[in-house]
Amino acid sequence: MANTYAVGLFPGERPQKTITRAFLYSIALRRHGLSEFRARHHVVLGGLGGDVRALLHLGVPAENIHVAETNRRTFLRLRREFPSVDVRHENVLLTVCRLSCCPAVLVETLNLDFCGKLDDALIATVAGCIKLLQRSLIYTSIFVTIFGAREQGKEILTRIDSVKKNGIRNFWPTSSKTSSHLRCEALYECLLGVGASTGRHPLYRGSYVSYVSSGASLKGKNAHCPMGAAFFYIRRMGKAHDSLNRLVRAEDLSSRELAFLLRKEGLNAPEISALLNEPRQRVAGWFSVRTKTAQLG
Ligand SMILES: C[S@@+](CC[C@H](N)C(=O)[O-])C[C@H]1O[C@@H](n2cnc3c(N)ncnc32)[C@H](O)[C@@H]1O
Repeated sequence: MANTYAVGLFPGERPQKTITRAFLYSIALRRHGLSEFRARHHVVLGGLGGDVRALLHLGVPAENIHVAETNRRTFLRLRREFPSVDVRHENVLLTVCRLSCCPAVLVETLNLDFCGKLDDALIATVAGCIKLLQRSLIYTSIFVTIFGAREQGKEILTRIDSVKKNGIRNFWPTSSKTSSHLRCEALYECLLGVGASTGRHPLYRGSYVSYVSSGASLKGKNAHCPMGAAFFYIRRMGKAHDSLNRLVRAEDLSSRELAFLLRKEGLNAPEISALLNEPRQRVAGWFSVRTKTAQLG
């Protein structure tokens, strides 16, 4: 794998990220073996293209790799760099939606390396993807990487408060100063909506990593970069629903809410009805009534 580490205005990939990626893909590889890993499909976010290079390096054919990138310049660069890969200029939710409608496409991994703040839009995207992949016939590994200490906005802070009130350990948010690892764990408890009543989520226990990245800031001073975090989530069709039901957002997300998320991404009612396999009239009915869920995400 090329060493993309560099210091400057646009620093390249940190070694921590390379190691984290290797760890995450090794989980999926261990579960299914190399030949299935190669035969199936993989969805990643664009960025510097590190995940694409890693998948190619592991022998996944270019046509089985799907890249979603919302930033237009990044999208254009990636399309030039990887002409045989399926690179799309869209929210990953749309990519997953389209792929989940093709019975021949089995998504083995979904790597959501947002490196972004935990907020309601991010949670809605993750929940939407999980909901869509639940229709698949295979296990899908989902990795989510987020900043560990930059949550902002009333909604997310309220959500964090409610998790706190549910009685998870009392390390939020002060422990972030002393232990980025614990902070990371708390974040995922928020993301999965796990409280004391249900205990630690069985699907994510031991299945996440946290890392602290550091490098040169724009002014040349060494900066302590935000912590990233990742977990994987594996689903199984028809089983394990007891534990899946503990996932607050994904399990509670109705087809109607999902439809609103997709509309927000620019799809129209007929497209959404086809993608979600819902009658046109029903979808049109949802959109004709202005409801609270219209503001979802
Ligand atoms: C941290 S980078 C990904 C880096 C990539 N893992 C790599 O190895 O180079 C995240 C990228 O995802 C894009 N992005 C963020 N949210 C997205 C979304 N919901 N759908 C598609 N792209 C998104 C950002 O524009 C950014 O380029």
